[in-house]
Amino acid sequence: MATSTWFPSFLVWLLLFLVATPCRSLTHAAGGGGKWDLLQQSIGISAMHMQLLNNDRVVIFDRTDFGESKLPLPDGKCRNDPNDTVLTVDCTAHSAEYDVLSKSIRPLMVLTDVWCSSGAVSPDGRLIQTGGFNDGDHAVRIFTPCNGCDWQENSSGLLARRWYATNHILPDGRSIIIGGRRQFNYEFYPKSSSTNILFSLPFLSQTNDPKIENNLYPFVHLNVDGNLFIFANNRAILLDYTKNAVVKTFPQMPGGDPRSYPSTGSSVLLPLKNLQQSSVEAEVLVCGGAPKDSYVQAKKGKFVRALDTCGRIKITDASPDWSMETMPLARVMGDMLLLPNGHVLIINGASSGTAGWELGREPELKPVIYRPDNPSGSRFEVQNPSSTPRLYHSTAILLRDGRVLVGGNNPHRYYNFTGVLYPTDLSLEAFSPDYLDSKFSTLRPKILSPGSQAQLSYGQRLSVRFSVSGALNDKWVSVTMVSPSFTTHSFSMNQRLLVLDGGKVTPVSSSVYDVEVTAPNSGFLAPSGYYLLFVVHQEIPSEGIWVNIK
Ligand SMILES: *[C@@H]1O[C@H](CO)[C@@H](O)[C@H](O)[C@H]1NC(C)=O
Ligand SMILES: *[C@@H]1O[C@H](CO)[C@@H](O)[C@H](O)[C@H]1NC(C)=O
Ligand SMILES: *[C@@H]1O[C@H](CO)[C@@H](O)[C@H](O)[C@H]1NC(C)=O
Repeated sequence: MATSTWFPSFLVWLLLFLVATPCRSLTHAAGGGGKWDLLQQSIGISAMHMQLLNNDRVVIFDRTDFGESKLPLPDGKCRNDPNDTVLTVDCTAHSAEYDVLSKSIRPLMVLTDVWCSSGAVSPDGRLIQTGGFNDGDHAVRIFTPCNGCDWQENSSGLLARRWYATNHILPDGRSIIIGGRRQFNYEFYPKSSSTNILFSLPFLSQTNDPKIENNLYPFVHLNVDGNLFIFANNRAILLDYTKNAVVKTFPQMPGGDPRSYPSTGSSVLLPLKNLQQSSVEAEVLVCGGAPKDSYVQAKKGKFVRALDTCGRIKITDASPDWSMETMPLARVMGDMLLLPNGHVLIINGASSGTAGWELGREPELKPVIYRPDNPSGSRFEVQNPSSTPRLYHSTAILLRDGRVLVGGNNPHRYYNFTGVLYPTDLSLEAFSPDYLDSKFSTLRPKILSPGSQAQLSYGQRLSVRFSVSGALNDKWVSVTMVSPSFTTHSFSMNQRLLVLDGGKVTPVSSSVYDVEVTAPNSGFLAPSGYYLLFVVHQEIPSEGIWVNIK
């Protein structure tokens, strides 16, 4: 008896042992989840830069000196530009507005060249977009979210040429515009009489490798103390822009390989929480990139494997240091996005080569999700692959419903659709993280109040009413706020996520609850402006609502 019960259970155990390990890694390779949908076969232009505005429309643009796009300008309009390097009369659009809800495209008229420019949304919801190439390199362009609005341009709004610069919105509502090719300085928009000058930033010349310029599109995050964390090449500083003083120099990231353009990695400020504490902690994550010599090698036709490491650093520590983690996939030109539940999505890019014309190879079609609060070693999860390569000049942004809008791919000087390795792509796709799967519908919260476009004041107590159709686990309810980012060249400028303090849940009626939270109490934590607010239950987010904090 004893032997006969022992024997089969031993066999079962042996079978489990033999099967379990390979099985787990197979599941891993097949992808942890997520779903891809083609939204638009063609929007007529390539989504090289994207910004979601508070009317659920996305402003998209590529560049003006590019030849004819597939999106005609309306009413027979044309752009006459004797200085354009490609077409002096162009009757096609290079910017468009995509309405997420109606799925319609509206061509926009941009006059000066927006190629490799930067931007941020101001507290009143307008996109302040700056720089570019050629006749656009000193431009300030403003796009107001309203029906029928179009670009307002001032081609001499900046003091310096800004090509591959990074912008961030400041606690006082101004934009700061940092760096750009051969610009080792920053400036503000708008300017006052005392700020109508360039502020020098030697850090950008110190991190500049003159042959490769491996420090473009620096990763900029607003720290909780009001200073700016600026990462370029392989290291970072904390800048007090009000005094033009470097207040901290962070150690070089282990390995020393570059992470900024053209060795393009990406970076996020990890979710900020415990916001009412006297000292809020802030952590930055930088992932992927390309080894030191990759750009030079790629120019010679040798495509070096991308970096598979991330560095994570608590920037509010007295003596911070990097802790390194290894991603399941190597990636250059990946985008990093904060999801409403505080996870980080790493998406798009390639596993070899670098950014730049024709220099990326082996598209990395599988996104990866990073769970910052999991123990080290169990944070990454590979997701289901797309079928569309998204290399140089591709983008990804978070939408209000929790999907991620993905577009672009234009690794060529023009719109080349045939006869090239990775054709220019004019489509828009959506990546739906696993949290949108219908198997979670009984867990998914639905916000009942406040209504969209709610006003919030700093430090305000806020009650959010929501419903959940299934059983509620009130220990797993949180409220998050995410700022909509300006995304280009694998960096999402102005991106931040706040987990609001509180979270006490009170039942109201069957399936309806109130959750009490406190809004962030300063513009250092959350610069004034529009955010998406979500209720998250057991890591499943509701659809967001727009809120405006001031
Ligand atoms: C073309 O360039 C010249 C010289 O920079 C400038 O004066 C002129 O205004 C430009 N023309 C247009 C239509 O932008
Ligand atoms: C463009 O910006 C410059 C610099 O701020 C300013 O002097 C000029 O008046 C602006 N032009 C227009 C038409 O607003
Ligand atoms: C891309 O398109 C441009 C303009 O049509 C053309 O001049 C160029 O030869 C094309 N490049 C390739 C690699 O086909």
